[in-house]
Amino acid sequence: MLKGKKIILGITGSIAAYKAAYIIRALVKKGAEVQVVITPGGKEFITPITLSALSSNPVISEFFSNRDGSWHSHVDLGLWADAMLIAPATASSIGKMANGIADNMLITTYLSCKAPVFIAPAMDLDMFAHPSTQQNIEKLRSFGNHIIEPGEGELASHLVGKGRMEEPDVIVGVLDRYFDGLGSLTQKKIVITAGPTYEKIDPVRFIGNYSSGKMGFALAEACAVQGAQVTLIAGPVSLSTTHPGIRRIDVESAEEMYQAAVRTFPDSDAAILCAAVADYRPEVQSDEKIKREKTGDITMHLVPNPDIAAALGKMKQAGQRLVGFALETTNEVAHATEKLERKNLDFIVLNSLKDKGAGFRCDTNKVSILEANGKLTEYPVKPKNEVAGDIVEKLASLLK
Ligand code: CTP
Repeated sequence: MLKGKKIILGITGSIAAYKAAYIIRALVKKGAEVQVVITPGGKEFITPITLSALSSNPVISEFFSNRDGSWHSHVDLGLWADAMLIAPATASSIGKMANGIADNMLITTYLSCKAPVFIAPAMDLDMFAHPSTQQNIEKLRSFGNHIIEPGEGELASHLVGKGRMEEPDVIVGVLDRYFDGLGSLTQKKIVITAGPTYEKIDPVRFIGNYSSGKMGFALAEACAVQGAQVTLIAGPVSLSTTHPGIRRIDVESAEEMYQAAVRTFPDSDAAILCAAVADYRPEVQSDEKIKREKTGDITMHLVPNPDIAAALGKMKQAGQRLVGFALETTNEVAHATEKLERKNLDFIVLNSLKDKGAGFRCDTNKVSILEANGKLTEYPVKPKNEVAGDIVEKLASLLK
């Protein structure tokens, strides 16, 4: 739904700039508020008067307003928007966006924008096909920007020619569908545990594991994108979070993670236990660095850590949901079923270490979801953020 959404429309210097008028009209018709930012080149193709009349907002082009010299804040604009759409986007502007060359108001706004960005390239086929352009487009994609190319819409690409801008109605349809997909977790509070835990042996040593935390962080992001308020309880990882919907609690040991989880779960709609929690910790944690024994072996006595998932399973109230993970090497489904029951989970995400492209320290994962009713759904190898999307979709369906 585009109704009430605040859209920055960036227009650059292409012959397709006239189509921006149709884009504004379609956005406004769907109830969106549109703020146009145009490059100096864009103004050669369409007048700001047309654009301000259609959008009912003054068009921004310069860093300073011509009339009174007041400063246009690209930062405020970037924060105001629910989405930014750059259509048409020339090869030059795409190159500047990909490389951070902020020499006009549109590019500075793009760089400040916290909202999702949609880019509709417009140029001739040779420019589009040039490796330079293709690399820049790939770079923008890797930043998480959505590239709208012809061929995905109603007109087949062989008719319109690659590089030519997608039709205005199709572009607006892409944004509309994007916002439709949003908000499946609006108002929901989700606790997520992520990463490894470190169990201290002495001031310089610990027992840990190879978990990178990537899957848990991807889940936090995916939940936040769907409108959830996320509490991300993170073990020691070198990852950062930027989404304003994510509150992060950093912990080190299983005991600290346990304390944070039992404190936050009662006020939540769901918890996703994605952390690779160390099952045991040294019974004694030395305050001094343990010295090498002159002769013979050294023995360390380990005691069990609390099972966070099982503890939350016991606390779970009607309407709350609990999701766990199982990383298995043998008898995967049988083990996962046993864990699902023992921990009172609603579903469990099963990783098999036997699968290529699955598990620790990589950007892809291959999972199956086993539900409490015995239903098993298998997914192909996917990037972790897409796997997170599948898990979030399943969770959202159970929280309706
Ligand atoms: N888990 C947890 N707290 C623990 C151990 C596990 O919250 N102390 C959670 C994990 O985050 C995961 C699920 O329980 O969602 C299963 O973890 P796993 O290590 O596979 O289960 P264990 O019960 O430890 O079983 P085992 O090590 O015997 O395979």
